[in-house]
Amino acid sequence: KLTVGLVGWRGMVGSVLMNRMLEEGDFDHINPVFFSTSNAGGNAPDFDDKIESTGTLKDASDINELAKCDAIITCQGGDYTKSTHPALRKSGWTGYWIDAASSLRMEDDAVIILDPVNRDVIDVALKDGKKDFIGGNCTVSLMLMAIGELFRRDWVEWVSAMTYQAASGAGANNMRELILGMGVLRDSVADKLADPASAILEIDRTIATTQRADDFPKQHFGAVLAGSLIPYIDSQLDNGQSREEWKGQAETNKILGKEEDIISIDGICVRIGAMRCHSQALTIKLKKDIPLHEIEKALIDSKNPWLDVVPNNKPDSMTRLTPVAVTGTLGVAVGRLRKMNMGGEYLTAFTVGDQLLWGAAEPLRRMLAIIQG
Ligand code: HSE
Repeated sequence: KLTVGLVGWRGMVGSVLMNRMLEEGDFDHINPVFFSTSNAGGNAPDFDDKIESTGTLKDASDINELAKCDAIITCQGGDYTKSTHPALRKSGWTGYWIDAASSLRMEDDAVIILDPVNRDVIDVALKDGKKDFIGGNCTVSLMLMAIGELFRRDWVEWVSAMTYQAASGAGANNMRELILGMGVLRDSVADKLADPASAILEIDRTIATTQRADDFPKQHFGAVLAGSLIPYIDSQLDNGQSREEWKGQAETNKILGKEEDIISIDGICVRIGAMRCHSQALTIKLKKDIPLHEIEKALIDSKNPWLDVVPNNKPDSMTRLTPVAVTGTLGVAVGRLRKMNMGGEYLTAFTVGDQLLWGAAEPLRRMLAIIQG
């Protein structure tokens, strides 16, 4: 059994990871060692007796303790990775580092993991002795879970992804802020809402005034999200893209192992008021005019049991292709598939996936299973 160090297991992504590992019985196959950045010496979790108590929490900054692990999975965040990973490697540790944070993603020695899409790239890396396996950006991973098969068949010339990203991508506090904001809006017009005869434009005016008030909850997002949207995610780059937008092309090509022959990916990333499902409207420029039924068949036949190919009609789109339908599940829905007015080489699609599951936690636990053979 591998000794596996777990860091950042208490946060949002870490908790989703722990739940998935418990659901799949992953703890039966490892010796878990739980680390903490703040509570070393405290009791390690047993998750309501679901696993045997594993003693005390180790100090997550203790290189000697970390170095005793065959593998470390961290959801602690990028600052932890930056402060710990170099020192650990410098100490001579050659174990597997499996990380949800972005810090190491684009390093030459690191592999971005999304095994249903790039198992071949992962296997080559393992054979080459690579040891750093990093989860991809959630938006990129979810796009590839949806249309990875089209890339695999080498049908794709470029993709424009316009995103509708959930609050969870920004963190737990942001999810709370979104709900709080929705509540504040509702409360500000509760009386008028209860009166069917009240004037809608008056309600609307009150909502706008409430949203523009200085004390509206926006501390975490830095702008109002409830009843609005935010057309900027992550930091500003010099080329006009946001960092989130930059990741689309950089990470997609790295995941696919196509760094020599780049496929252009670009679009605008937008925060909307969904809880934890990222959605994306895709424009896909195909290399040739492939018939729609062939594309649908390729997606349905692809060896991706999580993909729900939703027929392009209104009832199915409204019931199966929404954050409400997909949230909390491992399913990734893709639909609204049709050729566009621009011509037969232009395919459009809409996709929805849970950004905490396939977008963050799931590839990490699957990587652990891969190294266990
Ligand atoms: N950067 C993503 C977001 C989440 O803000 O939605 C992390 O992949």
